[in-house]
Amino acid sequence: MERTYVMVKPDGVQRNLAGEIISRFEKKGFQLVGLKLMQITPELAGKHYGEHEGKPFYGELIDFITSGPVVAMVWQGQNVVSVIRNMMGKTNPAEAAPGTIRGDYAVFMGNNVVHGSDSPESAEREINLFFSPEELVDYKKATDFWLY
Ligand code: TYD
Ligand code: MG
Repeated sequence: MERTYVMVKPDGVQRNLAGEIISRFEKKGFQLVGLKLMQITPELAGKHYGEHEGKPFYGELIDFITSGPVVAMVWQGQNVVSVIRNMMGKTNPAEAAPGTIRGDYAVFMGNNVVHGSDSPESAEREINLFFSPEELVDYKKATDFWLY
């Protein structure tokens, strides 16, 4: 089953949106397989956002993502990577549709409350960066018609 890495960013934690964000993915029918509150070090931030190194916003991005605790998660389900990206909305909250997380709760590009992997390949890389295999819980949950 497909998995993705999701995190409530420091602004989302500070604004008490962690529960709301988790709730949306739960209600959608996805399965939570990993969860922790953590403080990201600059080293880990650099690895996570390595693709953006050298871009004008990179410094601010690293400062922001290390500015306070994040809620790191792994979610599992059919097409979970792309469905969660759709539920998050566009990167720029000003362009994110109402009904999406960023569309409903964010205003500024830098502070867009949530991260989600952009492809199954990114998901695997990011899950391995943030979680050890023992931290991911493999458990049975009904996957009958009423979930999907
Ligand atoms: P990106 O990976 O392009 O977006 P997403 O989070 O939707 O996968 O960029 C990572 C984060 O960097 C993004 O969530 C917000 C920030 N960012 C800026 O501050 N300015 C920008 O111009 C871009 C593209 C991103
Ligand atoms: Mg990205």
